[in-house]
Amino acid sequence: MADSIRQRLLQMLEEHAETYVSGQMISETLNVSRTAIWKHVSELRKNGYEVEAVQKKGYRIVSRPDMLSKEEIALKLTTDFLGKTIYTYPTVESTQFIAHDLAHRGTPEGTIIVADEQTAGKGRLGRSWHSPSGSGIWTSIILRPKLPPQRAPQFTLIAAVSVVHAIRKQTGLEAEIKWPNDILIDGKKVVGILTELQAEADQIKSIIIGMGINVNASQEDFPEDLTTATSLKIEAGREITRSALLAAILNELETLYEEYLNNGFRMIKLLWESYAVSLGRKIKARTINGVIEGLAKGITEEGVLLLEDESGKMHYIYSADIEIC
Ligand code: BTN
Repeated sequence: MADSIRQRLLQMLEEHAETYVSGQMISETLNVSRTAIWKHVSELRKNGYEVEAVQKKGYRIVSRPDMLSKEEIALKLTTDFLGKTIYTYPTVESTQFIAHDLAHRGTPEGTIIVADEQTAGKGRLGRSWHSPSGSGIWTSIILRPKLPPQRAPQFTLIAAVSVVHAIRKQTGLEAEIKWPNDILIDGKKVVGILTELQAEADQIKSIIIGMGINVNASQEDFPEDLTTATSLKIEAGREITRSALLAAILNELETLYEEYLNNGFRMIKLLWESYAVSLGRKIKARTINGVIEGLAKGITEEGVLLLEDESGKMHYIYSADIEIC
């Protein structure tokens, strides 16, 4: 109850961020006493919000903390189901582990898990994912499409397009995609996506989309051997509010997911191709069966990469590390 009043108070303050909201207006809208409002404002301040209180004028929000709290994320969400159930943690081993467990136990579609820090973040192909406290978005999103497991790779591409749209809108940076799931800015990796599956032979039970986004890390925050990584702050030259970016990604993802369920993969494929850095270029694909070199021709309707080698033979790449030659 107290939480939902605080959430609505925050919403009112955000909606009138340019001006003051009178105590009377808040009191009438939220049906709470002036004293209760004062207490909620004090709680907001303890949580890092700067709220100005001026006699005869009312309250005005001056600044908010860069916190990945449920309230902050919810403020910017325009979705119907995505992000409506949110689990937030200061520190976890990996949000993927928690997501798998929740998915097994029947959590609703659209549940998201967000951590400020991961101590055992998972990357693709058994790698680890550097997830320090306070500077990134480490999240796992649970979807439950009623589709066969072969369609799962498409979800990595849907997720990648959503992230590109949100980054472009929130920061103006020209994010691009390296197949299948790396988001690059100026050739450096800023986001990694790990899609995992719980499925029966003929039907997906849940898809867990893990996203690791380097948001406000400075160059010195990256391990020395991680020379190919960057952050949005480094590229944009300013701090980015994590909660607003995450909400923007969820808004984009829900729209694209619905487009996909209603009209199929066509539109997503076109969008993905328009942001792809590797298409039409010579690439090296490191697969579990060895290295294949050739021209990246495109992706199939299933989201599989088509690579034509020197002899003209077409290879279907389901999983690999890609190097642009
Ligand atoms: C990659 O290797 O590029 C994929 C990295 C995915 C990292 C994210 S961070 C949130 C989620 N939890 C994890 O442990 N991994 C994914």
